[in-house]
Amino acid sequence: METPVASAKILDGKAVAARIRNDLARQAAALASHGVQPGLAVVLVGEDPASQIYVRNKTKACAEVGIRTFDHRLPATTSKAELLALIARLNADPQVDGILVQLPLPAGLDAREILPAVDPRKDVDGIHPDNLGRLVMGEPRFVACTPLGIMTLIEETGVKLAGAEAVVVGRSNMVGKPMAALLTAADATVTTCHSKTRDLAAAVGRADVVVAAVGRAEMIRGAWIKPGAVVIDVGINREANGKLRGDVEFAAAAARASAITPVPGGVGPMTIAMLLVNTVAAAKIRAAGPAR
Ligand code: GUN
Repeated sequence: METPVASAKILDGKAVAARIRNDLARQAAALASHGVQPGLAVVLVGEDPASQIYVRNKTKACAEVGIRTFDHRLPATTSKAELLALIARLNADPQVDGILVQLPLPAGLDAREILPAVDPRKDVDGIHPDNLGRLVMGEPRFVACTPLGIMTLIEETGVKLAGAEAVVVGRSNMVGKPMAALLTAADATVTTCHSKTRDLAAAVGRADVVVAAVGRAEMIRGAWIKPGAVVIDVGINREANGKLRGDVEFAAAAARASAITPVPGGVGPMTIAMLLVNTVAAAKIRAAGPAR
């Protein structure tokens, strides 16, 4: 078999995220000098190993830019009432600008009953129903971190989104739906594909911009990619040997795309950077004083 030669620009999310963090560190220092140190409460319920790693990475990134974190680790046996009581305390705490409840929650706790309890003005994860609704209505407040980071990576490519065909594969509340809303707001013609889509290859083949967020290793075949397309891979699929694979067949897609994100080092670091961006934005609102 012929080995495809990558011709695409590799979208280095790690480098872009580092640049954003540098900028945020300056902003956080300026806020702190006015007595407002940005603060993020991180709530982790249970022992999910992947979540523990994500939370550790988020906490470390906060420390690096000067965001204070308030760590709340709760056992998997935590009741809905206990978790809601903690969220109510964090909502009322003036030191806490942002609240992150790491998902998935353990069995027995329903995210649909918990997430709406977070004050939407502290929802730096952008997953409160109010915030997703506002985004869809074209009046965004906090936007979910992964799609927000992807928009920054797409901007890096210089591709003109107005009138472009964009295909989002996946319709989750945290990625697919807000992604489609952002691309629509940027005047792209957006198609959302999912498990019931009849001809995924044909849909992907029409796309100038593809965002793959399905959670299945290499489901998006390289041969489907339209030559010159921008390909964004949200997938983090861990193989038995520990290696990470994206949702896109990388080498074959890179041979056709104009730009593509690697896995790891593409979307992942941008997601964390956007959490920091949203937290600093929340702290700026606190620094500006109560709304009149
Ligand atoms: N679990 C996996 N990704 C995320 C995320 O971005 N935010 C939260 N809260 N939980 C997650």
